Amino acid sequence: TWTMEAFVEESIREIRARVGDKRVLLALSGGVDSSTLAFLLHRAIGDNLTCMFIDQGFMRKLEPERLVKLFHEQFHIPVQYVNARERFLKQLEGVTDPEEKRKRIGREFIRVFEEESTRLGPFDYLAQGTLYPDVIESADTNVDPKTGERVAVKIKSHHNVGGLPKDLRFKLVEPLRKLFKDEVRKVGRSIGLPEEIVRRHPFPGPGLAIRILGEVTAEKLNILRDADLIVREEINKQGVYHDYWQAFAVLLPVRSVGVMGDHRTYAYPIVLRFVSSEDGMTADWSRVPYDLLEQISNRIVNEVRGVNRVVYDITSKPPGTIEWE
Ligand code: XMP
Repeated sequence: TWTMEAFVEESIREIRARVGDKRVLLALSGGVDSSTLAFLLHRAIGDNLTCMFIDQGFMRKLEPERLVKLFHEQFHIPVQYVNARERFLKQLEGVTDPEEKRKRIGREFIRVFEEESTRLGPFDYLAQGTLYPDVIESADTNVDPKTGERVAVKIKSHHNVGGLPKDLRFKLVEPLRKLFKDEVRKVGRSIGLPEEIVRRHPFPGPGLAIRILGEVTAEKLNILRDADLIVREEINKQGVYHDYWQAFAVLLPVRSVGVMGDHRTYAYPIVLRFVSSEDGMTADWSRVPYDLLEQISNRIVNEVRGVNRVVYDITSKPPGTIEWE
């Protein structure tokens, strides 16, 4: 029978047999897959694992800090934190087209990845959180005709863009390749990952950059991070985080008139997007209790400077998408 302990022990043996005393690079994303992967590899090969975390500046408030802290303090796994916030922001200057944003973020990710893996390397292997369904699709890998090994031609960051240059093609180590997502969650839980990582809502690779419509600026990122944190705090307070597939805030690039005390305001609106879904392919807008909407709206308008209105998205997918870009 399949148990967590057996899986963990078996993976560790397999990793050791595969990579021996070679060096492995792993890019952490903050999700359950890469976190579980890091734990297994560190148990298997210790210091021969290098975990790299590229901070693009588009994650949710406090998440990068929490991730690094968790790895250091709870797992005693060192993390190479790469602060690339300014570079990514620079790439997005003046860019308003959603596809162009994704392209530029993906391209910059590959650049930073290349630079940092050269700086920290050389590495023989790249650890990827490939799951069973990805193995079947397998568009981001090639099989080396000589060795029969799977080789990364793309980085499976959640961007799914940007091929790796020829001289940077890593051999792959993929200990999660036989698992489905719910099995990874079980393993993650059994090794002590906090529930906030194990059952984190899906979060797009380009992050908050595609939840700020139009041009992304440092100011707008701050506004959205603060509004988004309030959404999370309130649904956690009510204990309903797991009732939703995703629940988040979007910042629109228009302004409307409001009144605060005896002042007229002219500021941005925040859209709340709460959906239920099985797999993200289709989704239904969630019938969120009015009290919760009211609480979130009051807090955002009162606490987040630059926002004076909150609206709720009542569009299902299709015809809408879950994200706004
Ligand atoms: P849409 O907006 O297409 O989203 O209905 C479906 C699911 O995919 C997520 N999503 C992304 N995930 N990179 C990702 O890794 C992306 O560029 C991206 N765009 C959308 C979205 O959050 C939802 O769960």
